[in-house]
Amino acid sequence: QPPNPQMGESSVLRRADCRAKGGAPGFKVAILGAAGGIGQPLAMLMKMNPLVSVLHLYDVVNSPGVTADLSHMDTGAVVRGFLGQPQLESALTGMDLVIIPAGVPRKPGMTRDDLFNINAGIVKTLCEGVAKCCPNAIVNLISNPVNSTVPIATEVFKKAGTYDPKRLLGVTTLDVVRANTFVAEVLGLDPREVNVPVVGGHSGVTILPLLSQVKPPCSFTPEETEYLTNRIQNGGTEVVEAKAGAGSATLSMAYAAVKFADACLRGLKGDAGIVECAFVASQVTELPFFATKVRLGRTGAEEVYQLGPLNEYERVGLEKAKKELAGSIQKGIAFIKK
Ligand code: NAD
Ligand code: LMR
Repeated sequence: QPPNPQMGESSVLRRADCRAKGGAPGFKVAILGAAGGIGQPLAMLMKMNPLVSVLHLYDVVNSPGVTADLSHMDTGAVVRGFLGQPQLESALTGMDLVIIPAGVPRKPGMTRDDLFNINAGIVKTLCEGVAKCCPNAIVNLISNPVNSTVPIATEVFKKAGTYDPKRLLGVTTLDVVRANTFVAEVLGLDPREVNVPVVGGHSGVTILPLLSQVKPPCSFTPEETEYLTNRIQNGGTEVVEAKAGAGSATLSMAYAAVKFADACLRGLKGDAGIVECAFVASQVTELPFFATKVRLGRTGAEEVYQLGPLNEYERVGLEKAKKELAGSIQKGIAFIKK
């Protein structure tokens, strides 16, 4: 916090801390990777969320600047910045929700799996911090490849003895957001009225939109089904190519991350009937992780829903998705176990 000529810095800090500690109701949220392309707009949107009382912004670069900037917004959350590994533990202590968009993004020609070598180590280190400093926090994992980073986080938490499958959620909301948008375009509807379940994982053919379960109920021609499935599966690549080397989806991702984080916080608060898709530990298929609808409650993902009836096109897609997912999950587990 900067000095205040009238009140003095310590007085400003004391009042802000009182507000954060006792006064304002709400949750304590940390964003790890807060100075990045996703992290910055995500931090801004979380600073605007009335359910958040304290917002910790951690990154290995530029977090003081982002923190100073956001701290001038006249919304309730108290913002604090943390820079570099020595400050990771302070960033995490006492948090209710930790959102992780730290790591490198794709460039044209790359798959999400090409990010594994760099991002696996980043996610491992950050999750070791979570296990040590806020083992009861809900974790929203955004860093790619999500199909492998969620298994990595699981193994880290198991090793630390803190693993609770309900509290670790891979964020696949952007797939749902895209599916709602593209389906609404085809149907000529307002995207806010459309809900498309997207199951499986978060990469290529593992992204499986269930167009037979769209709400409101509707039907598609085989050509529309093919077009929509391909567009939803390749939405990330569409953005990577349009950005032409300057990264991947950041603004739509920040929107999606906040939609999901807000649902988690409403669940923590005790609101009923909060259902979102997420990549979680699962018994829905033979794989140990799978994205489906989950019900969010006071303890995280309290219920993992079954897939529901699939048509033939979706059954074929499911087999392809499972084949690719199995390898990505195994790769994540092996990274920690080796
Ligand atoms: P970015 O490069 O703009 O930002 C990443 C941030 O992470 C940077 O500020 C960097 O300093 C920080 N960082 C790097 N190492 C760190 C560490 N050890 N601790 C803390 N912070 C660290 O990238 P971006 O566009 O924000 O994307 C971030 C990640 O999110 C990528 O892996 C990307 O593929 C993924 N992503 C996932 C989804 C999804 O749907 N799950 C969508 C979009 C992007
Ligand atoms: C996305 O779906 O936009 C993200 O996973 C980023 C990417 O690499 O496509």
